[in-house]
Formats: sequence, structure tokens, C-alpha cells
Amino acid sequence: MHSFPPLQNDLLLRAARQEPTPRAPVWIMRQAGRYLPEYRAMRSEDAFFSLVRSPELAAEVTLQPLERFPLDAAIIFSDILVIPQAMGMTVEMVKGQGPVFTQPLDAPTDLARLQMPALQGALDYVFEALTLTRRRLAGRVPLIGFCGAPWTLMAYMVEGSGSKTFSHAKSWLYRHPEASHALLRDITDLLIEYLALQIDAGAQLVQVFDTWAGLLSPDSFDRFCLPYLVRLVDGVKARHPDVPVTVFARGAHHGLEALAESAYDVIGLDWTIDPREARRRVAGRAALQGNLDPCVLYASQETIRSAVRDMVQAFGPGGHIANLGHGMHPDHDPVHAGVFIEAVQE
Ligand code: CP3
Repeated sequence: MHSFPPLQNDLLLRAARQEPTPRAPVWIMRQAGRYLPEYRAMRSEDAFFSLVRSPELAAEVTLQPLERFPLDAAIIFSDILVIPQAMGMTVEMVKGQGPVFTQPLDAPTDLARLQMPALQGALDYVFEALTLTRRRLAGRVPLIGFCGAPWTLMAYMVEGSGSKTFSHAKSWLYRHPEASHALLRDITDLLIEYLALQIDAGAQLVQVFDTWAGLLSPDSFDRFCLPYLVRLVDGVKARHPDVPVTVFARGAHHGLEALAESAYDVIGLDWTIDPREARRRVAGRAALQGNLDPCVLYASQETIRSAVRDMVQAFGPGGHIANLGHGMHPDHDPVHAGVFIEAVQE
């Protein structure tokens, strides 16, 4: 295993464990990205997945927002879609459209095209980027690793791109439940290994992004989302019991109690739920992360500060990691991201 310098700022890890902190730690989903001119400059030289596959460049992009802002965490620059790529699928990032799969999974017979690769090997570039970034951070703040949730990855693999309804992916759940479960099981097995290897490489907290959980009915969520989220965290905890794990199941409010019951340490919230209601329903069983509406960052600095004050108060002290309720938008003003971060820390 690697040895790294001790942490100088462990607010994130303490809040994740619901230990007392003098203030809420703060980081932002998509804190490295197109809203930063320094990121756009690198992107004009290289394709998205070339950046992701270069440990040196990925480390550099990861550290860009930390050069600008006094953030309490770094999140490794990568993408959830490296897992479908490792399984043999081709994904491109198309300007104005997002990710596009050249050959999505159309019918259950297509599952035969998928591989179960050894991730140590196939995704070494991610592990190397984590180790390199952790060294460069030199203990300044913790480093977050991540993956997509089983359902969200299946949604992209079947749909082939982003979509308002993901109706093709959802139709699999109703027409091909057995094949859906087989696919979700395979993805989950890979993700357990993936997160465990990210932790071995230097990640100090890992987050599972279930961006499309909210597309499912409560019943489908209970069948096709939740069991795999639970299996994933249990598998990671069996290997790394002391590393906090966060789940962000966007839009799946009905699942809050079930997620609180599970082994996840932190539950990420989108902006459509009141923090006080979430606190009441989670009842101390997990720390909470979130949840300012990203669009507040379009408002005046005064409005941002007052919205942050309200948010911090609504969560109350302890067990809160301040964040937006989803990622930065490409047209956000970096100055306003800075105001958000400072307002939390004041
Ligand atoms: O948060 C961070 O700073 C870490 C980096 C990160 C990226 N993607 C970089 C990225 C993380 C954590 C992700 C996760 C991810 N990727 C998710 C889950 C989180 C979420 O936002 O819901 C999803 C659904 C994806 C798949 C994906 N990758 C989409 C849908 C897109 C297109 C988005 C868009 O705005 O065009 C991406 C591309 C992507 N991933 C970019 C970045 C910085 C922008 C790509 C570019 O430079 O052109």
C-alpha cells in the first residue's frame, strides 16, 4: 500500500462520521469543469476521455478548483462511464449532446457482448490519477473517489445517451426483468472492486452517483436500485470498513429511510427536499450532503450568501457536508462559486 502525508484538514471525514466539526465542510459536485476557463483551455487541447485517461492531466484538472478556492475536499477528475468502457462499450463525449454510446444494449442477447474485465489493469489510469493527486495534495484536504450507481450506469448502457425519460432503459425493467437483474448484478460486482481499488490507490471517501434514481417508481426503485446500492456499500465496507461512503440518489426522496437504514455514511440530497424534513426522516442514521439549488449561483452575491445561511441553518450543526444539490453548470460564474464556498465557511 501507499503511504501519504497526514491530513491537515479532515473536516469532510469528521462530518461524514457525524463527529462534531467547528463548521460544515464544503465541496461542489463538478467543481472541476467547463465553468473554469483553465479547464476549458485544457479541453481545447484534448478530448474529454483523453484527459480522463491521462493520470498527469487528470491530477492537474482535479487540482484546478483547489488553486482558486479554499475547498475542503478534492474529487478526482474522471467519469462514471469508464465502467461501461471497461466492459467493452464505446462511449464518446459529443459537444452539445453529452455522452453517446456507438452501440447501446438493445436486447438481452446484447449482454453477451459485455466483458467482466480485471479492473486492476483496465482502469489503472484512474488508480494512478488518484495516487498522483493524493501525493500532490500533500495532506491539504481529503480526496474523494466515485462511481456511477448500477441503475444509472445501466440507464446509459441501454439508452445510449442522455434522455429526458430514459424510456428504453426503463422498458427493460418491465420487459426484461431477469436480464436487467443480471446486468445490474454484474455492474455491482465490478463497482465493489472498483471502489475498493480506488481506496487502495488513495481515495479517502467514495461517492456513488445515482443520477437517474428519481426516474423510477418507488416500486421499481425498491427492486432495481436499492438492492444493488445496498450490495455495493456492503461489499466496499467488507474490504474497507473505515472509509466513509456517500450515496447521491437524485430525486428518490421516497428511498430516504431505506438509505438511512443501509451502511451508507452520508446521503447526498438534491435541492427539491427541505433539509429539515430530510433530517427528521434520516433521524441521525447518516450524515447529509447538499443541497443548494445550483441555479442560486446565477443570483447576486448577496442572494447567494443569504441562501447559504438559510441552508446551513436548516441542516443544523454537525453531520452536514455543504454542497450544491447537483453539479456546477458550464455557464456559472467562478466568482459565484467562490462566494458560495466562503459563505459556508464564514
Ligand atoms: O465532480 C467533479 O468535479 C468530478 C468529475 C466528474 C465528472 N463527471 C466530470 C465531467 C464526475 C463526478 C462525473 C460524474 C458523472 N458523469 C455523472 C454523475 C454526476 C452527475 O452530474 O449527475 C454522470 C451522469 C456522468 C456522465 C456524463 N459525463 C454526462 C451526462 C456528461 C455530459 C454533461 C455535460 O454537461 O455535457 C459528462 C461529461 C463530463 N463529466 C464533463 C465533466 C467535467 C464535461 C465534459 C466536457 O468537458 O465536455
